[in-house]
Amino acid sequence: MSALWKSAEVASALCHAAISAPFEANGVTFDSRAVGKGDLFFALAGESTDGHRFVPDAFARGAAAAVVSQNVEAAGGPLVRVPDTMMALVQLGRAGRRRSRARIASVSGSVGKTSTKDALRAMLAAQAPTSASAASFNNHVGVPISLARLPRDARYGVFEIGMNHAGEIEPLARQVEAHVGVITTVGPVHIGYMGSEEAIADEKACLFAGMAPDPVAVLNRDSRHYERMAGRARRFGVSHMIGFGRSEHADARLVSCSLQDSGSDVVALIHGRRIEYRLGAAGEHWVLNSLAALAVIEALGADVDRAAAILGDVGASPGRGARRRLKFGNGTIELLDESYNANPVSMRAMLAVLARTQPLGNGRRVLVMGDMRELGNDADRYHAELADAVAGSGAAQVFLCGPHMGALFRALPSSSPVLHRPDSAGISGDVAAALRPGDVVAVKGSLASKMKVVVDAIVAASGGEAEG
Ligand SMILES: Nc1ncnc2c1ncn2[C@@H]1O[C@H](COP(=O)(O)OP(=O)(O)OP(=O)(O)O)[C@@H](O)[C@H]1O
Ligand SMILES: [Mg+2]
Repeated sequence: MSALWKSAEVASALCHAAISAPFEANGVTFDSRAVGKGDLFFALAGESTDGHRFVPDAFARGAAAAVVSQNVEAAGGPLVRVPDTMMALVQLGRAGRRRSRARIASVSGSVGKTSTKDALRAMLAAQAPTSASAASFNNHVGVPISLARLPRDARYGVFEIGMNHAGEIEPLARQVEAHVGVITTVGPVHIGYMGSEEAIADEKACLFAGMAPDPVAVLNRDSRHYERMAGRARRFGVSHMIGFGRSEHADARLVSCSLQDSGSDVVALIHGRRIEYRLGAAGEHWVLNSLAALAVIEALGADVDRAAAILGDVGASPGRGARRRLKFGNGTIELLDESYNANPVSMRAMLAVLARTQPLGNGRRVLVMGDMRELGNDADRYHAELADAVAGSGAAQVFLCGPHMGALFRALPSSSPVLHRPDSAGISGDVAAALRPGDVVAVKGSLASKMKVVVDAIVAASGGEAEG
């Protein structure tokens, strides 16, 4: 098998950059701590540090070569000298994309990008060699890195594209040049920077800029922004729309689903053809993600039935709804870990899942929520508006932490069993002390709210993972 990148190809991709010695690289990275043997290391300037300081480290860890724009003393291996390492990374990503024969999908949306991207990876990899972005590598660094990692022989590529601010998606979409683009959802996420949901919908629709020939846009048919996004897609030259959702107008349409703690049984019509499948991740939001993914599979020309059969093995990942059963006292508890991120859309999805999860025996539903960040001036309102969903979750005890959660605390009836503390460290002891065997406990907040502290306290108070 030929190397991912040979030095001559790197030189030509980077406008004939000077290379100090020939090399072959089998990976591409910018994080010196994550360098693997044979990687091409890009020395990028970060906010707090500069990758050029870590070039010797990267070579010590086995890097094949380093791309640099400054002098590096005693580097320890072949150097590729360029005027600007960030620009060079984009160039290499573009070269990776240009040489690829893969069918390419791009995934954006306010929530559900990584969930949908990872489901697509699993579904496609079972059919042909597939490459997908790692983790949430969806920004100005993550996208070109993912493209530069696209193996020559990949038949499918799946790339996550995200944004915090207006204007970020279009250049990334143009790099990916997807055949099929999917927008999972549009909701008030990062709305503090974006102003309105309409502005978010417009920004997401920039996913359809600069697509490959015969492009397809996959859109949430139930979204009130559907027409708006379809209109934008048309302006970018995309005329083939596929809608997914509950709507009778959806091409990938939900007929029925039975939601259970451990997943769902789904019946859907994909372009009028009925399919039934089991989904390994719980919650209605996952059912909709799966429809979006199946619509993409169909548009990519892959086998929909084989793809649907894989969905039973697709589960939520740690911090995004993964469940753990822990020994607790003379029984067990179930922990729903959603500590990785939170916004009004995914909070509601989690509360709906909690409502459907049956505690064991005399167990109760226990809810722990930390602040949702980046919601701008209306942050308190978005928090307070969760009051109904909290009531509907059936939680017998509610623990809140963070300044904005104070607004939800005030919005809940004063009779409710709710405690509010300034931060997650302050509330973790209360949560651990309150739990009883049989309980189901859900923990969710933005990453910056550090809800993992609560997860860790619960795990520490437990007797470890229970069998089965
Ligand atoms: N369609 C959906 N609707 C509501 N919530 C969802 C949906 N899909 C996933 N979620 C929830 O949202 C959270 C984040 O999911 P995921 O990591 O897939 O999103 P993302 O868009 O990749 O986020 P990020 O912007 O951090 O990369 C998880 O807690 C998950 O359970
Ligand atoms: Mg993500």
